[in-house]
Amino acid sequence: MNNELPKKHLVARSFGNAAAHYDDVAVLQRQTGDELLDRLSLVTLQPKRVLDLGVGTGRNLTLLAKRYPNAQMLALDIAPAMLQQARQRYQKASGIKRWLPYSNMPFYLAGDAEKLPLADNSVDLIFANLALQWCDPRISLAEIQRVLRPDGLLMFTTLGPDTLRELRQAWAEVDDYPHVNMFYDMHDVGEAMMAAGLAEPVLDTDRYTLTYDSAMALMKDLKVLGARNVNSGRRRGLTGKNTIKQVGDAYETFRRDGVLPATYEVVYGHAWGGQLKQQKIEGEVRIPVNQILHRKSV
Ligand SMILES: C[S@@+](CC[C@H](N)C(=O)[O-])C[C@H]1O[C@@H](n2cnc3c(N)ncnc32)[C@H](O)[C@@H]1O
Repeated sequence: MNNELPKKHLVARSFGNAAAHYDDVAVLQRQTGDELLDRLSLVTLQPKRVLDLGVGTGRNLTLLAKRYPNAQMLALDIAPAMLQQARQRYQKASGIKRWLPYSNMPFYLAGDAEKLPLADNSVDLIFANLALQWCDPRISLAEIQRVLRPDGLLMFTTLGPDTLRELRQAWAEVDDYPHVNMFYDMHDVGEAMMAAGLAEPVLDTDRYTLTYDSAMALMKDLKVLGARNVNSGRRRGLTGKNTIKQVGDAYETFRRDGVLPATYEVVYGHAWGGQLKQQKIEGEVRIPVNQILHRKSV
């Protein structure tokens, strides 16, 4: 597994700065969010409490609330400015209903997926669209399992290592610094789900190609999205115009039919809350045998 995890405050700052204009460029996020919602509609659920983990500007929060009108919605994000956007969007979508005394408004929580500010066994549905890729899956998935009720459902997407491979390759022509965030592969995520004790984990990947007129346009979009390079070994300081031009030139080798492709490897996953969690009995920790066995298939 990759140990070069980004620093939390950089992720929070980057997304916080992006909050106001995020929706203008969140094309992939809308597509994967819709796909995740479609997959969710195949499951019959009547959740009492729903968590949109890494809620961003709240598009999915509003759609989930419509789908489960009786559920208590929880919106959590590491960037408070994103929560602010989500709140405004939700209020706008609710119209005058929000003034009704019995209106069921979401709770907005600033927090980290690796340290959820929620009680054990307290959530029936966790929906996380493209929000977990900056976390160590062993930690975030263990946290998810902790707060998920045993019959609760986790549905998520994250990014795989082939994401932005063209940009990574173009930068590799120019210098030796990591300029594109590193992502865990599906097998690491699967192992982490098993280790966390989540039940019946299922994973698959899909590739999406966005196209751009220039490498500069792609890098600008990534900045607007807040998905900046937060690698700990990244190059500090400003990048000169000449360097950017060199990256742009190297990226040109990928041009097809007049446009530049940017590949995204999206990992889709779902699992149920595990029935058996660690039981503490008089100072000793008991772990069920099926959580110790190393199962390869996911
Ligand atoms: C690409 S956006 C996706 C937002 C939203 N889920 C959507 O579908 O539009 C990623 C979001 O995850 C949040 N995020 C990143 N790391 C997080 C963490 N460790 N804990 C909670 N939220 C996190 C970011 O602040 C950002 O709002």
